[in-house]
Amino acid sequence: MHRDSPVLENCHKYFKYLPFDTAVTMFAIVLGTRPEIIKMSPLIRSCQKKGVDFFVIHTGQHYSYEMDRVFFEELDLPAPDFNLDVGSKTHAEQTGQIMAGIEKILLTEKPEVILVQGDTNTVLAGALAASKCYVHGSRPISIGHVEAGLRSFDRSMPEEVNRIVADHLSRYLFAPTETAQKHLVHEGIPPEKIFVTGNTIVDAVRQNLELSKKRSDVLSNLGLVPDEYLLVTLHRQENVDVKKRLQGIIEGLGRIHEKTGLPLIFPVHPRTEKMIASFRLQLRGFNLIKPLGFLEFLQLESHARLALTDSGGVQEETCILNVPCVTIRDSTERPETVDVGANIIAGVDPSAITDAADRMLARPRSWKNPFGDGNTGDRIIDILART
Ligand code: UD1
Ligand code: UDP
Repeated sequence: MHRDSPVLENCHKYFKYLPFDTAVTMFAIVLGTRPEIIKMSPLIRSCQKKGVDFFVIHTGQHYSYEMDRVFFEELDLPAPDFNLDVGSKTHAEQTGQIMAGIEKILLTEKPEVILVQGDTNTVLAGALAASKCYVHGSRPISIGHVEAGLRSFDRSMPEEVNRIVADHLSRYLFAPTETAQKHLVHEGIPPEKIFVTGNTIVDAVRQNLELSKKRSDVLSNLGLVPDEYLLVTLHRQENVDVKKRLQGIIEGLGRIHEKTGLPLIFPVHPRTEKMIASFRLQLRGFNLIKPLGFLEFLQLESHARLALTDSGGVQEETCILNVPCVTIRDSTERPETVDVGANIIAGVDPSAITDAADRMLARPRSWKNPFGDGNTGDRIIDILART
């Protein structure tokens, strides 16, 4: 759409009535899944440090101990003020139930800003509920989208739909990089609503890496030597819910194990565990373990010879930690990792995966982190609260 279109003109008029110029004094922080807990933790810390009022709404999209509570414990986060306990559902049921739960809370608690992070159904539901919520029928609740502007340009991914909708409903778009900022401007979002802040994942890695060295014995517990194993994570709906695709990926990974002699350490996401069992797939060269806490996972990740993944967060973290990465997907919304030489997008064909692994194993690990300086949480709170 062109920036001068009548639709956008009306958008600008609407946004004139939002409280652009006042400092925010009360935030609602919404989270619901493993990556959101990790990536929102620097914002929660920043609010605590600066004495800014906030409350946390947990949607309950993730709920198993190792997908949820372990992160609150390890990252020393306050218990959520509200938990919607929504659990696993179809996309529409999950989104609808979260919307209804969040709307109720927003109408009683009346925050000025609701912060959502990333691209899950929790984000979509939080942004949609807030966008129609007028406190006392007059004051709108502004939406702040953390990690705005990422695009895979593949709308068959539920995450792509979620992030586009959240971006277009938001008043504050916290873009991690200039690439993300460009996507937003290209889609007609007024530049004054966009702030290039870096990604809070750098803060989370920096805040926890030393602690993880001290607290985690994961390598010795698994009998691993640094640089002598491969790390695998998989959970994308389009990869693990389709038998042929998952089978091909597992075949490709098995071939890498045979070629390198390195074990494949695989903390299995519950979705993937369920699908491997239901498709009755045979795995060779894998050491399947439960999903790990962040401190354990950081250790496993930082000492891996190579990571093979379809995760967004793992693409970023390996780039930050100077660990080579092969992304087992057809696209990425993190092209910065590819541009600096930290990552190859392999697709899901077994030969393409092995070929990408060969190339990444041969690359020097000298790239620079493109995701910011580790002060993103403070930067976002400063923008909103004018601290
Ligand atoms: C969700 C997000 C995805 C994100 C991922 C992070 C959407 C559409 N997807 O995918 O973008 O990358 O979280 O991990 O929002 N399950 C459990 N315990 C849990 C959570 C899930 O057993 O605590 C199992 C259930 O069988 C569930 C399945 O995992 O049906 C999928 O969970 P769901 O939250 O729907 O999607 P994720 O694959 O986790
Ligand atoms: N992670 C973790 N334990 C694991 C696997 C991943 O703590 O066993 C962390 C990882 O460090 C990253 C985040 O979970 O910060 C990524 O989450 P996930 O891959 O589930 O979602 P995505 O980033 O793809 O949305």
